[in-house]
Amino acid sequence: MAPPAAASLSGPHALARQALSPFASRRSGRLSVLVVAPRPVSSLPVAALVPWRGRMVAAAATAAEMAPAVSGEDGKPFVEEMRAVAMRLHTKDQANEGEKEPEAPPVSMWEPSVEGYLRFLVDSKVVFQMLEAIVDRAVVPWYAEFSNTGLERSEQLKKDLEWFRLQGHIIPEPSAPGTTYASYLEELAEKDPQAFICHFYNVYFAHTAGGRMIGKKVSEKILNKEELEFYKWEGNVSQLLQNVRNKLNQVASSWSRGEKDHCLEETEKSFKYSGDLLRHIFT
Ligand code: HEM
Repeated sequence: MAPPAAASLSGPHALARQALSPFASRRSGRLSVLVVAPRPVSSLPVAALVPWRGRMVAAAATAAEMAPAVSGEDGKPFVEEMRAVAMRLHTKDQANEGEKEPEAPPVSMWEPSVEGYLRFLVDSKVVFQMLEAIVDRAVVPWYAEFSNTGLERSEQLKKDLEWFRLQGHIIPEPSAPGTTYASYLEELAEKDPQAFICHFYNVYFAHTAGGRMIGKKVSEKILNKEELEFYKWEGNVSQLLQNVRNKLNQVASSWSRGEKDHCLEETEKSFKYSGDLLRHIFT
């Protein structure tokens, strides 16, 4: 078992201050703009001596890994709010917390074809490429916080599509569900950062949850259990997700209640666009 994450010798609040200090908040109309200092939060090393199994050991962790959940006025970290809204939009057969009436057959009933699955992978690549380009370009400076999180998927999809090509399959051109969603994300990223972040969260987190489950089922049915790169992450995916949750909580801590609600309201659209991509697999 790994040693526990380090706690600062000067107390946990010093860590919280360290984690938050690179941000200065400036507000302009509806959008709150965070000006990020050149060094990203996640790269700040925090080292300390911590007790572990009866002795003091040196431990190091990045501030993002260690950042306490930054909570809103109602005491709940914002990612928990985003998750709660997303979970309610599932159907019962998709997830226990789901509340929606099903409009599609349950995953266990899907009869996928390689052609349909390839359309899904090609369109997913268009969407992930756009998300990655947006955070790399960082037209809103704090988007850069979400660059290189380790959750990126477009390179993995590129490898998977090449694998299919070498198996003799024809790789289709991107189609409307992917290109329409990518254009919508591009537009949002410029004019509505809170809504954009809603999609960013839902696309990446959905893929590690239901997406993985779907990948496994499809692979059992049509790929002889071959595990695609799309469903593999370097390192510990739970830790990568936690780092992103911490950053989302930090960024959203400067948002007004109205901005947070606006972000949450976008969840339904995120389900609609992603649902259109998934439809490639079961129709
Ligand atoms: C057939 C479609 C889907 C299935 C079977 C599915 C299934 C699941 C399951 C089993 C979980 C984990 C629940 C838990 O933590 O107990 C989950 C989580 C989640 N799903 Fe889905 N889902 C589907 C579609 C979607 C879509 C379209 C979105 C949004 C674009 C989405 C967003 C999320 C999010 C944000 C979480 C929370 C992940 C986390 O907390 O780490 N899901 N889903």
